[in-house]
Amino acid sequence: MSIRTIGVIGAGAMGRGIAQIAAQAGFEVLLFDQNQEAVAAARQSLQQVWEKLSAKGKITEAVAGESLARVRTCASLQDMAQAQLVIEAIVERLDIKRELFKQLEEIVAADCILASNTSSLSITAIAQACEKPGRVAGYHFFNPVPLMKVVEIIDGLRSDAQTGDALIALAREMGHTPVRARDMPGFIVNHAGRGMNIEGLKAVQESVASFAQVDAIMREQAGFRMGPFELMDLTGLDVSHPVMESVYRQFYDEPRFRPSPITAVRVAGKLLGRKTGRGFYDYGEDQTAKPEAPAVPPLPDGLRVWLAPFQSVGHRRAAALLKALGANLITSDRPPHDALIVVTPFGEDAASIVGAYELDGERTVALDTFFGLEQGRRRVLMCCAATAPQWRDAAHALFAGDGTAVSVIQDSAGFVAQRIVAAIVNVACDIAQQSIASPGDIDLAVSLGLGYPHGGPLSIGDKLGASHLLEILRAMQRVTGDMRYRPSLWLQRRVQLGMSLRAEAASQ
Ligand code: NAI
Repeated sequence: MSIRTIGVIGAGAMGRGIAQIAAQAGFEVLLFDQNQEAVAAARQSLQQVWEKLSAKGKITEAVAGESLARVRTCASLQDMAQAQLVIEAIVERLDIKRELFKQLEEIVAADCILASNTSSLSITAIAQACEKPGRVAGYHFFNPVPLMKVVEIIDGLRSDAQTGDALIALAREMGHTPVRARDMPGFIVNHAGRGMNIEGLKAVQESVASFAQVDAIMREQAGFRMGPFELMDLTGLDVSHPVMESVYRQFYDEPRFRPSPITAVRVAGKLLGRKTGRGFYDYGEDQTAKPEAPAVPPLPDGLRVWLAPFQSVGHRRAAALLKALGANLITSDRPPHDALIVVTPFGEDAASIVGAYELDGERTVALDTFFGLEQGRRRVLMCCAATAPQWRDAAHALFAGDGTAVSVIQDSAGFVAQRIVAAIVNVACDIAQQSIASPGDIDLAVSLGLGYPHGGPLSIGDKLGASHLLEILRAMQRVTGDMRYRPSLWLQRRVQLGMSLRAEAASQ
C-alpha cells in the first residue's frame, strides 16, 4: 500500500508541524481537531508560514500555494476514511488516545496505519484497544517539527514490522531522519536526555556550583550548545519536571533518573523558564542577561606549584599546561610546605585525594583535565572544604594566565562536566544494553534531537575515552555511595574488550 493521503488529528503545535512537512513533501493532508476553531487557526497559521517561507525565497510561490491546497480541514472524524495513514497528535492521555484509535478503526481502511505522536505513553498500551494492533506504531516528532529533522519510530509489542518500515520510508520522503526504538519509557531522546538535566541539578543541589556556572562549564569546557539550566528554561519546567518524574517512575525508581526537589519547588512557584519571564535566569529586562564572571585575582609573586602525580593522564596534561604557563614547578616526591598543591582527579573529589595522600587541604586545588586544557577552553578548578581563599585565588590567577576563562567550584566527585558527561554516556550505554535502539540510532537521535556535539553520546564516550569514563563513574560511585553512578554493563564490557561504545555484540 502506498501512502498518499495522511490524516492528522489534533491541530495544536505538533499537528500543525506534521501537516506542514507532509503537505510540503507532496502528500494530501486531512486535518481534524475536536475543536473546529483550532483547525481553522492551524490552516491560517500554515498559510502564513508558507507565505513567509516563499517571501524569504526558501520555497517558491507555487510550492507555497500547492502545499496549502493539499491541506484539507475536516469537520468530522469520518473524513479520515480516505487516509492511508493517520497520525494522532491530541492531548497526552492514554484513555483518550485509546478511545480515538478504537473509533478510527471503524472508519479507516483495513490496511490504514495508525500512528501516535505520544512522547511518554506506551505504544503497546495505546494499541491494546485496537482490533488490529499490528498496524499501530509510534511516530514521535519533536517541536518545532519542521526544524527538528528527526523522528522516532516506535514498535509496540504487537506492531507489525512493516508498519514501522512504512513510517521510516515516509519520514525520509518528508526530509526527516528516522530512528527506530522499542516501546520503552522515554523511547530514545527523552530517555537519553535524563543524564544532563538530572546530573546538573544534582551538582547544584550539592552546592558545587551555581546554575550559571554549570551552564558555562557545559558550553565552554565540555563543548555543548547549551547547559542544562538554559535548556530547561527554554523547554519550561512545566514540561521538563513531569518528564523527569515520569521516566523515573516508569523505570521503577532507577537511581540514575532520580529527579531533584529543586525543580519541584520551582514548578510550584511558577518559575518555569522563559515562558513565565523567570526560571533559572531572569528574563525580565534583558533576555540575554547572564551573571558577570568574577575578576581574575592577581598572581602572587614567586608562586611555587607542586603537581600531584596520582592520576597519570591528568598529571601529563596539567604538567604540559603548567610548563606553557611558565609556572615554577617543584618536582619533589612530596609537596614542599610552601607550594600550591594541584591535583587532577578523574571522578574523585578533592577531599578524597587530600585524605588518601595526606596532603595539606588548605593549599590543595583540583584541576579538571578531562576535556583538554588548550587555550580558550574554559578551565575548572575545584576547592575542597579546607582550601584557603589565598591558595584558591593563586590557582585561579595561575590557570587564567593565558587569558583562558576559569570557573572555581566547590568539591564534587567528578567536578561538573566530568560527572554530567559521564552520566550522559552511561545512560546512552544503558539504552544500547537494553536493546531499545541500535548504537547508531542512539547517536543519531540524540545529536539531532538534543543537539549534542561530536555525533552523539556514544561517540562522545569514544572520543573522550571509554576507559576514563569508566574510571570516573567508578570513582564517583565509591565517593558518593550512590548507585546512580554504577557503570552500565555496556560501558564496562566494551572497555574490558577494547571495543568502541558504538559496537554491537559480534554474535548478535
Ligand atoms: P496541543 O495542546 O498544542 O494540541 C492538541 C490538540 O489536540 C488541541 O488542538 C486539542 O483541541 C486537540 N484534541 C484534544 N483531544 C482531542 C480529541 N479527542 N480529538 C481530536 N482532537 C483533540 O498539544 P501538542 O503540544 O501539539 O501535543 C500533541 C501531542 O504530541 C501530545 O501527545 C504530546 O505529548 C505530543 N508531543 C508534543 C511535543 C511538544 O513539544 N509539544 C513534542 C513531541 C510530542
